[in-house]
Order: sequence, then C-alpha cells, then structure tokens
Amino acid sequence: MTALYLPSLVRIGGGALNELPAALKQAGLSAPFIITDGFMAKSGLLDRVQTLLAEADIQSGAFPDAVPDPTVTSVEAALAALKRGVYDCVIGLGGGSPIDTAKMVAVLAKHGGTPSHLKVPHVQDEAGLPIIAIPTTAGTGSEATRVTVITDEKTDEKMLCAGYAYLPHIAIVDYELTLTMPRRLTADTGIDALTHAMEAYVSKRASPFTDALALAAIKRIWHALPIACKDPSCREAREQVMQGAFEAGMAFSNASVALVHGMSRPIGAHFHVAHGLSNAMLLPEITAWSVTGAQSRYATCARVMGIVPSETEDGAACTALVAALRERNRELDVPSPSSYGLQESRWNDLLTLMAEQALASGSPANNPRVPSHTEIIDLYRKVWA
Ligand SMILES: [Fe+2]
Repeated sequence: MTALYLPSLVRIGGGALNELPAALKQAGLSAPFIITDGFMAKSGLLDRVQTLLAEADIQSGAFPDAVPDPTVTSVEAALAALKRGVYDCVIGLGGGSPIDTAKMVAVLAKHGGTPSHLKVPHVQDEAGLPIIAIPTTAGTGSEATRVTVITDEKTDEKMLCAGYAYLPHIAIVDYELTLTMPRRLTADTGIDALTHAMEAYVSKRASPFTDALALAAIKRIWHALPIACKDPSCREAREQVMQGAFEAGMAFSNASVALVHGMSRPIGAHFHVAHGLSNAMLLPEITAWSVTGAQSRYATCARVMGIVPSETEDGAACTALVAALRERNRELDVPSPSSYGLQESRWNDLLTLMAEQALASGSPANNPRVPSHTEIIDLYRKVWA
C-alpha cells in the first residue's frame, strides 16, 4: 500500500500565474494573505500579484519581510501581520523560504502555538488555513511537499515540521518567474531538484508512482539544467527544469529523500551553506558510495540521462554515472567544502556531531546502502577536498 499526497489544484506552464484568481475561486477562497521577501517586493512581482487579484475583485494583504532560513521571529512577525486583517488563505510567493514561512503561518493562524511545539516527532495533519505556493525558483519542490523548516535562532536548530497541514492546496508553477534567476542560484536549486529525483528513485520507500515522476524529472533536469545555466533566458530550458523540479518535489514528498539530504542539512546548519549547494557538494561521492545498494536503479538513472547506451550493463553504467556527476559539478563550478572556504579545523571538530545529526534526521535509513556513524564521518572526510 502506498499513501500519496499531492497538491489539489495545479496550474503549470508559462503564464500560469495569471490563473491565480481563477484557482482561488475554484477553491472557494477570496481573501488571501501573501508572504514574500524584500527582493520579490522590489522586483515588482508582489505588486503584479496584488494587481492581478484586485482586477478579479480579490483584496489581499501582504507581508514582504520573509527571511532566508526562516526564523521563529520572522514567522511571528508574519503571523502578527496576518492577524491585523481577516484572511482565509496564505500565499507563499518566492523561493523556498517565503513558502516555508507561509506554511508555518497557515498552521499557526488556525491552531495557535509556536513552531517548536510543531517540530517532529509531532505530525500536524489537521489542516490550518489553505496554502497557495507560487515558487520563483526551480528546485525546492516545496510547492508539492508536506514539510517546512523553521530555524530556532536562539539555538541554531533547524526544526523540521511535517504533516498534511503543510501541503499546499494550490500550486502555481510558472517557469516565467524563474527567467531572471542568476546562474549560481539556477545551478544550486537545479541540482537540489536533481538530487530529490535521484534520491526518491533509489529510496527504500519508492513506489511505481514516485518512480515515474522521479525518472521523468531526472531526464528533464539532467538535459536542461546546463542550458538554463549557460543561457538564462532560454525559455525551453527553464520550462523543463521547472517542470522537473515539480515532478521531483512530488516524488520525494511521497518517497522521501536519502543520504545526500541527510548529510547536507548539518552542513547547512553549521556552515550556512545554501541547501542546493551543499547537496551538490555531496551528490557525486555519496552516489559513488551508495551504488552497490541499488545497482540496477542507479544504472537506470544513467541510461535515462543518456550517459550510457541502453544496452550497457549495470556496473559500467554506475561507474559512468558517478563520473558524469563529477564532471557536471566541474561544469557548474560547484566547489568542495574546502575550496568554498569552510574552516578545516571546524569541519573536523564537527564531524562526529554532523554524522549524529545526519543519522537522527532519518533520511540515511532510506538510502539503498545504509551507513554507520563511522562511515558517514569517512564520507564527510572524502568530500572535504
Ligand atoms: Fe532538497
């Protein structure tokens, strides 16, 4: 038996944003509160959305101060702003951070409490206000997931909060919103999406439904991401990466991520490396270590990506996959933790703790080859240089 959780109403494709008023009406929603960040406000996108809504006789409120790695304080400020009006849903407009903020505010607005009461192992299935996700990056898949991550700034703890209440009711997936993303952000968020798809495909919790989405996403992102990085205005490439990121989001939300994400989160928490970038630093070496756990699945990835001809046997396909991932990192200028400038003594001091935190996240247990604490430390050492 497989349980599947997916957004109910989706508008996907160039110009999908214009469908926001119609989607709200279909869902019976009429008073949205928009959470976004200063960049989106300055770029004019927030104005565009509010004008679009006003033209359809939908009055909206807005909080334009969401922060990267959303904190408890920023969530509280957004919630206070929402409470100054009367709203029936929350729109997250922007990258992963405004969407994550919107998810938490939607739950707190209905149920009260604080983010720390809602972190796992608590599971928040009882719905809050309906959530509408409008991503402006192609990678996090947050528009399709049942999780949000809020940072307790007092302890630096990244609190994972999970449950059906965080799944967006409406997802507006419009690649035109990603046309202005800079190269580094395009590469990092795109590799995050590729990692979601690959990890969902090799996950112990994969199912035929998530396999189909994951393989479609792997093929799309692998081909289109270098083009989107080289030629940011290429609409075809942007469309493929956005579509792939959404497919990958639905896949990993229902099959889970694995060891790369498990090891990536502690790097983000301790060294403030962007999520997509720390995944990118890890993906080739973690794949090299993991292939023996699911050789035929990794080989299928290599064939779907077009790295090897379809008749290539599994072992050779896996070897070629790892080589291609290393080469892709070079092509996209992905640094190692060392060349990125992280402090080596601190890295070494934190290895034991980071390995503990990686294991505690539960993601490594879904990996096709499950590492011990010592093996995770060895892997962190391996990716350092
Ligand atoms: Fe991710």
